Amino acid sequence: MSTSQPPHFLRDDEATQECQALLSTLPKEKTRLITLHKYQDFWYSARQLGGVLACQQHFQAQDTDIHLATAPKSGTTWLKALVFTLLNRKNCPITKDHPLVTTNPHDLVPFLEFDLYANNQVPDLASFASPRLFSIHLPFTSLPKSVHESACKLVYLCRDPKDVFVSLWHFSNKLRPQNIETISFEETFHKYCKGVSFFGPFWDHILGYWKESLRNPEKILFLKYEDLKEQPRLHLRRLAQFMHCPFSAKEETEGVVDEILELCSFGNLRNLEVNKDGKLSSGVENTAFFRRGEVGDWKNYLTAEMGDQLDEIIEEKFYGSGLSF
Ligand code: A3P
Repeated sequence: MSTSQPPHFLRDDEATQECQALLSTLPKEKTRLITLHKYQDFWYSARQLGGVLACQQHFQAQDTDIHLATAPKSGTTWLKALVFTLLNRKNCPITKDHPLVTTNPHDLVPFLEFDLYANNQVPDLASFASPRLFSIHLPFTSLPKSVHESACKLVYLCRDPKDVFVSLWHFSNKLRPQNIETISFEETFHKYCKGVSFFGPFWDHILGYWKESLRNPEKILFLKYEDLKEQPRLHLRRLAQFMHCPFSAKEETEGVVDEILELCSFGNLRNLEVNKDGKLSSGVENTAFFRRGEVGDWKNYLTAEMGDQLDEIIEEKFYGSGLSF
């Protein structure tokens, strides 16, 4: 970004008083871009924490809600586009007037902690039609109580942590104000391996949702970015089943599955005017959410040693869980 200020959600000075009081009691780690604070075992910027606290205190889940849960840079934008299109396909058929053609997926599916409850505000959600569709980066153990207690559903999308790291590093550099020099790849990597990154440690974020998806598959659908890339039709149908809106025989014959996949594809979304020129209310340029959209791009950035180091961490942390990357 070509400004001298970082986007709102990275500004420490905008944290509320309640949040400031809590912050003074929490472990801290300084990164080049921002100071991160450890709350309930995960790392947040001060302003993110304000949103986390507000939605933990005030958000009331409904049984029909659908939450899209991800760690940053795992494919959130893609998941938002897919699920929005799936759920709304009767009201918003896929034509040149589809909302995704003129609106970034993040403006169609708001984050609870970043958008709706950001900076400790309590939003009026009355205008949200049922089923309400929200997005969260919150780890499973920190979800608002009502999300655990209601019959709402969660779709969790994760991604190979090596690709997430590379994506995160690029994104952080995009958010970086002009007056900060390029964020060191090695330093960011070192912190990532220690678990210090937005909503990290990445392994605990993934494992929290993974374990719960095994215990409660009706509540959590667990997806991997790589699987979605490899077998998009299969996983789109799974998503539709999970949300109780399976494709009809007529839709199958008419090719609706492929239409949705094409509309939400990296190539299509990235080339839309809105995603080339637009900005989110947080100040982040839409283009920052569309970089390469590939599996295995880490090979172009991590040294062999770095790749091995992350693989060892992944193997150790996920050992015995049944999950691998
Ligand atoms: P890369 O940086 O590896 O390209 P998030 O949406 O969670 O912020 O994740 C961003 C990552 O998802 C980026 O990865 C981005 O390019 C990729 N992405 C965005 N839209 C996508 C799409 N429609 N299909 C596949 N990947 C997509």
